[in-house]
Amino acid sequence: MQRFDRRGFIGAGAGLMTASALPACTQIATTPAQTEGPFYPLGLPLDRDNDLVQVEGRRDSAAGQVLNLGGQVLGTDGKPAAGLRIEIWQCDANGVYHHPGDRRGPADPNFQGFGHTIADGQGGYRFRTIVPVVYPGRTPHIHFKILGADVDPLTTQMYVAGNPENEQDGLYRQLGQASALVTVALEPDGVSGAMRGVFNITLG
Ligand SMILES: [Fe+2]
Repeated sequence: MQRFDRRGFIGAGAGLMTASALPACTQIATTPAQTEGPFYPLGLPLDRDNDLVQVEGRRDSAAGQVLNLGGQVLGTDGKPAAGLRIEIWQCDANGVYHHPGDRRGPADPNFQGFGHTIADGQGGYRFRTIVPVVYPGRTPHIHFKILGADVDPLTTQMYVAGNPENEQDGLYRQLGQASALVTVALEPDGVSGAMRGVFNITLG
């Protein structure tokens, strides 16, 4: 099993398309807010880093297809927002949230369920997680929360392009055309069997 190299992972953003590469005149639409849902952790897990696939102290990795997810956070002025806290949470490969309110178990003990990171000087962030899966009543999604001293917090959800369940999902449909701003195309990440995706976030 390939072991996760934290330094290599954090530094692997060179190939990502970043919003700062866009022409200066390009208008960037604000990322729409979405409900937090019922499964934000009641207490944050001891291991809450940006690698949700490997829980500290456990030998095995999470079930599911690895997703290397990254992007850039832009502030209200359209410039990279450095130093913001980015949190994600999602259900595991069994469709179960690591939350006492989710009784659909069993949960995958090797999935971290929640992770966080701090955006770098260019607003860049990375997570290693799993490709989200369907659970009853919802299309696959990853919950995001962006927090910082000088910004209004943003809570939203990220979706995967091409999932047929998207168009059946009430929260997704509610977004209308703005759904494009939270829908991410995934592609194979090399030959590892993992996927990769870029989710840029613009704060309003
Ligand atoms: Fe959810």
